[in-house]
Amino acid sequence: MQEIIANAQANKQRIVLPEGDEPRTLKAADRLLADGVADVILIGPAEKIKEMTAEFGLQNIGKARIIDPMNNPDRQKYADLLFEIRKAKGMTPEQAYDLAGNFMYLGILLVKAGEADGLVSGARSTTGDMLRPALQIIKTVPGVSCVSGAFTMFLPEGCPYGTDGRMVFADCAVTPMPTAEQLAEIAICTADTAKAIAKIDPVTAILSFSTKGSAKHVVDKVIEATRIAKERRPDLVLDGELQADAAIVPSVGSSKAPGSPVAGKANTLVFPCLEVGNIAYKLVQRLAGAEAVGPVLQGLAKPCNDLSRGCSIDDVYKLVAITCNQAIAQKQK
Ligand code: ACO
Repeated sequence: MQEIIANAQANKQRIVLPEGDEPRTLKAADRLLADGVADVILIGPAEKIKEMTAEFGLQNIGKARIIDPMNNPDRQKYADLLFEIRKAKGMTPEQAYDLAGNFMYLGILLVKAGEADGLVSGARSTTGDMLRPALQIIKTVPGVSCVSGAFTMFLPEGCPYGTDGRMVFADCAVTPMPTAEQLAEIAICTADTAKAIAKIDPVTAILSFSTKGSAKHVVDKVIEATRIAKERRPDLVLDGELQADAAIVPSVGSSKAPGSPVAGKANTLVFPCLEVGNIAYKLVQRLAGAEAVGPVLQGLAKPCNDLSRGCSIDDVYKLVAITCNQAIAQKQK
């Protein structure tokens, strides 16, 4: 995290926090501004933010840009932008004006308009509340059709797996039942996230309950996804279908998948569907005591990230720093 925070400080990005009147978010904003990690844009009722700032004794909120969605002189400008993007889907100008007064839509529109480099929300809203407008308005990066969510897992001291105590897991947050094509995209995006955000050289395994044909049934999707991903990105060290133990344990990998460049060495794990990915990251977090940082949304044209509603001030702070790093990486591409 120190490296991620230092990179954010050195290349200041503008991050919009649509839940500006949410206590943990506001306190994190104060710390981010104090430490110079990001230029913060807060969305929320201006009077309430002022009162909370005084109540919590926050010293740095004065440096933030604050936009009150219901009292916004530029509301029509954002409504016009939204109408242009969604009119083909049947949105009316009146609906666009209404939505431009919604804190989440406004935050996403600021990113779309280029007034913010990224967005972090979710201390109060569900994943879907943020994802739906992000998918509708910001859309995906060219060449990617499927957005997904990755966690960097910081493994406990002494754990022999991963690289420098880190692994990356995906998709743990977005696409319930990916097709083979989508799973291949998720694997490619996850390898790129592992490099850009977790700062590890990705060795990527697409996981299943079968290793190299040991079981039949429904593993065709994983086999096809592996084929597509390898064809599209021959530069990646990637393989499948592998069971979890064959992917990460050297002795099991060499006996079950001899010759695989990944078996026994994987540090980036791609799960066949969201149910598996979400369950796996939570079990590793709880049973192994790993720290799970994310989900970092991958595949969106601009970085927007979602917090858990149980998040701490520290979680907001870290996810903003990560979002800054995603924005920096995208600009450098
Ligand atoms: N990638 C890219 N675009 C997508 C994706 C995707 N994975 N899913 C939907 N879209 C697009 C659609 O094409 C559509 O675009 P359009 O309106 O321009 O045509 C738009 O997004 C909205 O699609 P809908 O079908 O209306 O949205 P849906 O109701 O399917 O919701 C959502 C999409 C929110 C991503 C849904 O799949 C979802 O809720 N996923 C699970 C999220 C979740 O609960 N995660 C677990 C908790 S997170 C955690 O524990 C860390």
